[in-house]
Amino acid sequence: MIVLGVESSCDETSVAVARDGVIRANAVASQVALHAEYGGVVPELASRAHLKNLLPLARLALRDAGVTPAELDAFAATRGPGLPSALRVGWRFTQAAAFALGKPCLAVHHHEAHLYSPWLVPAGDVPFRADWDAFQPNVALIVSGGHTLLVDVPEEGRHRVLGGTVDDAAGECFDKTAKLIGLPYPGGPALDELAEEGDPAAFPFPRPLLRDPHDDFSFSGLKTSVRYRLRDHPGLLDDPRALRDFCASVRAAIIEVLVAKTVRAATRLGRPCVTASGGVTCNRALRRDLAAACREHGLALRLAAPALSTDNAAMVAALAERQLRRGAAPTPWEVESLPSWSLADETAR
Ligand code: KG4
Ligand code: ZN
Repeated sequence: MIVLGVESSCDETSVAVARDGVIRANAVASQVALHAEYGGVVPELASRAHLKNLLPLARLALRDAGVTPAELDAFAATRGPGLPSALRVGWRFTQAAAFALGKPCLAVHHHEAHLYSPWLVPAGDVPFRADWDAFQPNVALIVSGGHTLLVDVPEEGRHRVLGGTVDDAAGECFDKTAKLIGLPYPGGPALDELAEEGDPAAFPFPRPLLRDPHDDFSFSGLKTSVRYRLRDHPGLLDDPRALRDFCASVRAAIIEVLVAKTVRAATRLGRPCVTASGGVTCNRALRRDLAAACREHGLALRLAAPALSTDNAAMVAALAERQLRRGAAPTPWEVESLPSWSLADETAR
């Protein structure tokens, strides 16, 4: 089965081709440079860029995969959640292409696709290969600029949301604190870089909801405490040593909560494995500390490959192929994109 997948929920345009569990192509056009001067994603600019990029990316993905449009068995695209206009562009583009070619089109949930990316592994001759045989029941951490979710995945195709952020997403917290510190957009990677050389214990930032018994997260208080610390100590970060220590301390506060709550949920539920995906999975401290915590608790760990941690269509095509093989019905043509689609809402499927 050959499936062409499309992702356009935020600021990444991506088209991928999956064939029998193998990702033959995964073309991505990042809009980071486009939004940099505004210090955040501008929805109207994002959807215009999706509109401009989709057709060339689809051509590129088909060429890389060595597949013609007529050979495709199905199309799939992210229906939600995400930026309304950005989603609409990708979803309608994909529906139109499928309709014109007389192929089925499947709506995919962005977070469910994230659950699949840790099971796609880089392969020598093709970009990625699905490792479904290795699948284990897991607790999945999805962490990006737009979402922070903890999901129980007892078996492939089944999932239950355990918790999420009650305010800012983890990536948003990285980006907003980085902005307060004066780092360039997007701040997460820049803060991570500086933190590598700093002392994580130098500044005692709060660990929000760390000891609370539920699986929710909160990051806006941490951002406020960074703001107050900088207001009360002007010039603090002029010293390069203090700047690195500050970054390391902010990073430690975010990562400690993510790691502790993820491992605690997996242990509590008796799941043998933890997975992680989303842009923040690129964070070096998260990768190291989650690995160490999983080792300590006897849990297996599957981190999405860095190229599949950020938004991509490979995970969309991979999920759609699995769903179609399990007999999923094509999505009716009149179905619209759904910006507020919650992973917990099974009725919207
Ligand atoms: O998944 P993604 O590309 O887009 C969505 O938000 O959907 O994630 C981007 C987020 C940004 O907030 C970015 O700052 C963060 O991931 N990020 C990082 C790192 N790399 C990317 N945060 C901390 N450390 C990193 N190394
Ligand atoms: Zn995402």
